[in-house]
Amino acid sequence: MRIIKTKDYARMSSAAANIIAAQITLKPNCVLGLATGSSPVGTYKELVAKYENGDLDFSQVTSVNLDEYKGLSPENDQSYRYFMNTNLFNHVNIDKAKTSVPDGLEADSDKACRDYDEIVAKTGGVDLQLLGLGHNGHIGFNEPCDHFEKGTHCVNLTQSTIDANTRFFENADMVPKQAYTMGIQTIMSAKKILVVVSGADKADIVQKAFFGPITPMVPASILQLHPDVTVVGDAAAFSKIS
Ligand code: F6R
Repeated sequence: MRIIKTKDYARMSSAAANIIAAQITLKPNCVLGLATGSSPVGTYKELVAKYENGDLDFSQVTSVNLDEYKGLSPENDQSYRYFMNTNLFNHVNIDKAKTSVPDGLEADSDKACRDYDEIVAKTGGVDLQLLGLGHNGHIGFNEPCDHFEKGTHCVNLTQSTIDANTRFFENADMVPKQAYTMGIQTIMSAKKILVVVSGADKADIVQKAFFGPITPMVPASILQLHPDVTVVGDAAAFSKIS
């Protein structure tokens, strides 16, 4: 595991964007696994800037996102499809037909998950998977539980995740209680994994996830077994690491 410690969120974002840009430059038709949330917003801004400068071409890139709230449409401004469009896809020359997010409007959970596993499989595999880290150690929406879920599945979000996401909604009642998420095996199948973490509120979970025991109660801890993981974080997020 490679740890890259940066001064602050802005430097974390540019370091992460440089890694993604290098991936796209080395393999223009690469498959990117993408995440939403606050952690990668700066990374996406940096990628848009590189595209606008003429330094990056997304025309051959395929992407698959980690997760989507069950019940939210792509037009809902809290859906992860909407997030990806507004933070990245609308601003670069990626072919939206080659971008995938689980279908939040598919009410049949089994079908939604099967369909998404098929979409991911058809890409031929993720070259670089970008991840954020939840306060409870979740990656995607793989919440702490007694086993690692393999493929895409429907999760009941934990209270801690609902609380963390309430800031994006009018009130806690409006936060969806279920989501579709890629499973741990799919995430672990990516050739390379890039985690972005920032802020003192992530310091405890960074310590547990990357330096503590490997357990499904801290889903991100499984990343310790992946052969090519880079964690880019700011000083505050690494403050509990000696
Ligand atoms: C988002 C996702 C989540 C977030 C995590 C951290 O697609 O899968 O696992 O990465 O909840 O969120 P932030 O970055 O908002 O702290």
